[in-house]
Parts: sequence; structure tokens; C-alpha cells
Amino acid sequence: MTIEAPARPGSAFLAVRDLRIHFDTDDGLVKSVDGVSFDLERGRTLGIVGESGSGKSVTSLGIMGLHRSKRARIGGEIWLDGEELVAADPDRVRRLRGHSMAMIFQDPLTAMHPYYTVGAQIIEAYRVHHPQASKKEARKRAIEMLDRVGIPQPDRRVDDYPHQFSGGMRQRAMIAMALVNDPSLLIADEPTTALDVTVQAQILDLIRDLQKEFGSAVIIITHDLGVVAELADDILVMYGGRCVERGPAATLFDAPEHPYTWGLLGSMPRLDRPLQERLIPVRGTPPSLINVPSGCAFHPRCPYAELTGGRSSTERPALAETDPGHFAACHLSTAERHRIFTDEIAPKL
Ligand SMILES: Nc1ncnc2c1ncn2[C@@H]1O[C@H](COP(=O)(O)OP(=O)(O)O)[C@@H](O)[C@H]1O
Ligand code: SF4
Ligand SMILES: [Mg+2]
Repeated sequence: MTIEAPARPGSAFLAVRDLRIHFDTDDGLVKSVDGVSFDLERGRTLGIVGESGSGKSVTSLGIMGLHRSKRARIGGEIWLDGEELVAADPDRVRRLRGHSMAMIFQDPLTAMHPYYTVGAQIIEAYRVHHPQASKKEARKRAIEMLDRVGIPQPDRRVDDYPHQFSGGMRQRAMIAMALVNDPSLLIADEPTTALDVTVQAQILDLIRDLQKEFGSAVIIITHDLGVVAELADDILVMYGGRCVERGPAATLFDAPEHPYTWGLLGSMPRLDRPLQERLIPVRGTPPSLINVPSGCAFHPRCPYAELTGGRSSTERPALAETDPGHFAACHLSTAERHRIFTDEIAPKL
């Protein structure tokens, strides 16, 4: 019997289809990612946003093939430049990692080893995928990359250890390491969360500049909509392991359709308004991914659940296209959502 390879959906550079990543734990099955789909083109940036525990990191680890463990079950399809990765040989995915796709993390020390110099680690990352390169060439490349990400005196700093760098400089060094092989997909998971506001802005500017220069596809993961406001072309909002809204960034900020997105927008810090005029941040706590609430997972926290005649707690809303390229999963009618947004939400944003 032959197993037919799944047909490639469309022609997007990265096409994720119905991605499911569940973990079998002693407490039960954790549905960390439960049916997420999106497309991303080269040269574009997708922001994935949601509160802590919504499945953002597991989504990105899944794309990178780093979720693998005996207790992980993965389903769906991940197409990277025409190649399907979920069913692919793990060795093949390992080769693509670092070369075609790379990742930066909130804490550079998860990616960098404390006992090796920054340069040695960038050189190693380069030589894994360029075995023909001499040490001298690889070192030159490492210095070039450190220079490119804004490390002063890169020919000297290349021999420093990670702890000799400040937090922001370490983040730059990790970006240099991620980009040393010129990957066409870069995933940045909360890249600025640990940094102070000024350094945060510098790192976001750097990612934007590098993307322009390298033309890669970028996914930025954050719990803070403010981080992706100026950076992302498209935004995907995750709640309880699922996508509740996605669409062009401008539309999501100007005309968001999902009550959870309203809550996220309402809790974005704004300096130009007194605190008491702000919307209350999303009340309650994120759901357990072992016992995901029935129907719409957001219903225990949603102020509008009662308006749907019981459907919110019994029936899972499907993602439906509200405008071209803009999708939301909510039982409220379009007219109701527009009325609530115009009357109650927009005046407070
Ligand atoms: N290896 C694992 N085994 C079991 N549960 C996991 C594992 N990795 C992540 N999870 C769970 O999956 C959920 C989503 O996690 P994560 O993707 O890290 O959230 P986010 O990045 O949005 O904060 C969390 O409830 C987390 O505890
Ligand atoms: S489906 Fe119901 S609970 Fe879910 S967001 Fe819409 S109104 Fe709220
Ligand atoms: Mg995370």
C-alpha cells in the first residue's frame, strides 16, 4: 500500500493547516494547539498574540519540529516552501532547522550555551550547514553578523561569553546566530518580553530592518498587541489553543470582530488616557487546556455570551470570513458585533 503525500494547499510560502499538538500527561490530554491554520508569504510578518498559555509557543515549536517527545501528538499539515513537515523524516526537519527556518527566544540563554563564546556558537551554527567553510571564513561571517545586528566592536566581542553581554546585546547576538544561515522563515517568540522599553523598541526595529534586507517570512509571538502593532502585516489571535480571529493588522486594530480581541485591545497600555477610562482587561483567567470549556472556549469570560441564546456554551463557533481575508469565530451576528463595537468598545479604545 502506498501512502499518498497530501496535496499542497495553495502556493503560500508557509501554509499551516489544521495544526493540532496535544500532550498526553498524567493529568489528561493537554490540547495545546487545536486546529490552527494560516498562510505566510516571504517578506511578510505575522503576529501571533494571546495571553500566556494560549498555545503560541507550542505552535512555533511545532513548526520548527521541536515539540517532538514521546508524549506529543501532532496532526495537520505544515507546508514550508512546498515541503510538508508534519509527516517528514525528523532528520530532514533537523536539516531545515537553522538553515531554512530559525527561531529566537525570550531568553537568549535558552539558545546560547554559557560555556562557549558567542562567536564559537555562531561559527558552529554556520558550519553545521556549511561544512565546506573553513574556520576562518566562518569566523569572518560571525563577525559580519554581529556587526549587522549592531554589536559594537564585533571583532573583539566575538570572543566574549554570553554573560559578558547585556540583555539587549545578548538578544542581538541570538538574532545574529539565528540569521547566520540566511533562513527564509524566522520565528521570534516573545523576543522583547524580558527587555526594558527602550531596548525593546531597538530590537523590534532591528527585526524589521533585517526582514527588509533578507526578505524572510517572520512570525512574531507576543502576549502584547502593542509589540506587533507596527511590525505585523497580519495578526492571528489565539485563545485556548485555537485561532479566534485573524486578518490584516490594520483591520484587526480598526475593526476587530471578536470579543476576546476587544479585551486584548482594551488592556493595551495607553499613555494618553487616564487609567479609569480604560476598558477593564479581559476578566477571569485563561482556560485549562485539559478541560477546555465547551462551545466557545471564551464563554466563561465573555460579557456577550448570553446574547447568543445558549449557543456560546454548547456549540463551537467556526472561523467565518467577515471581510476578505478577515476571519472571526463568534456566534454573535455581524450586526450585533458592529453595534457593540461602535457603541461600547470603540469609544474606550
Ligand atoms: N511538553 C508539554 N507537555 C504538556 N503540556 C505542555 C507542554 N508544552 C506546553 N504545554 C502546555 O500547553 C499550553 C500552551 O503552552 P504555550 O504554547 O507555551 O503557551 P503560550 O506560549 O501561549 O504562553 C500550556 O497549558 C502549557 O502548559
Ligand atoms: S461565541 Fe459567544 S462566548 Fe464566544 S466570543 Fe462570541 S459571544 Fe462571546
Ligand atoms: Mg510562550
